[in-house]
Amino acid sequence: MATGPAAMGRDQVPVSRETRDALVFGDALPGIQAYAQLLRTEGIPRGILGPREADRLWDRHLLNCAVVAPALATGASVADVGSGAGLPGVVLALIRPDLSVRLVEPLLRRAVFLEEAVEQLGLRGVEVVRSRAEDLHGRWTTDVVTARAVAPLTRLAAWCLPLVRPGGTLLALKGQRAQAELTAAAAGLPALGAATWSVQMYGEGLLDVATRVVRIDRSAGASMPSRPADPGGGREAVPPSRRRR
Ligand SMILES: C[S@@+](CC[C@H](N)C(=O)[O-])C[C@H]1O[C@@H](n2cnc3c(N)ncnc32)[C@H](O)[C@@H]1O
Repeated sequence: MATGPAAMGRDQVPVSRETRDALVFGDALPGIQAYAQLLRTEGIPRGILGPREADRLWDRHLLNCAVVAPALATGASVADVGSGAGLPGVVLALIRPDLSVRLVEPLLRRAVFLEEAVEQLGLRGVEVVRSRAEDLHGRWTTDVVTARAVAPLTRLAAWCLPLVRPGGTLLALKGQRAQAELTAAAAGLPALGAATWSVQMYGEGLLDVATRVVRIDRSAGASMPSRPADPGGGREAVPPSRRRR
């Protein structure tokens, strides 16, 4: 459920950019500014993020991700699947140091960038896992999986729901087609252990374009076929950097 300052209602008075940024990012604003700078100076030149994103980093990417933070319970474990340049995983870790976050990303150069970002931003409780999501099935589960711009929901649910613990949640940050993707995927969700699903809006009244999130909750008692644990499996060429406060 959307709660807190980043989840203000549709009928509220528009706020200035400064007020909006203070409401959404809070004490994390300097860290978010440092991350934006890292994306500009390293992420875009190295092709981790497209060159056209430079002018819309703040609104289209950082704010879009940050408003979802109230969806996460205090102290939750989160896996951001297909993290890319760290969206939304790095943003959530900056805003919510109470979370423990895995950034799951298969491509080496992106995983290397994420390791550098974790180091330079001083993030603790953040681990970079170089792997495809589906190769992690049966190895661990987490309270929440986030994913943004990774795959159509039908495929994404099959990759991500086996990583969600029973009673946990998948949050898929989607665009205008969120409801259509959910409708297309709905028939297959019970077989993946899903109990309930809906489209939720975050940042209404604060952002020009609110963030649409497909929320899928796994049934508390759900058990589903998964690959057996494989301690040596998965691809983790980038050493984990688990830094807990
Ligand atoms: C379009 S990018 C989006 C990155 C980021 N989430 C964002 O919003 O900017 C999709 C990312 O998903 C990753 N990806 C693709 N297939 C994947 C899979 N099976 N498991 C995990 N990540 C995957 C890609 O390597 C890529 O970094």
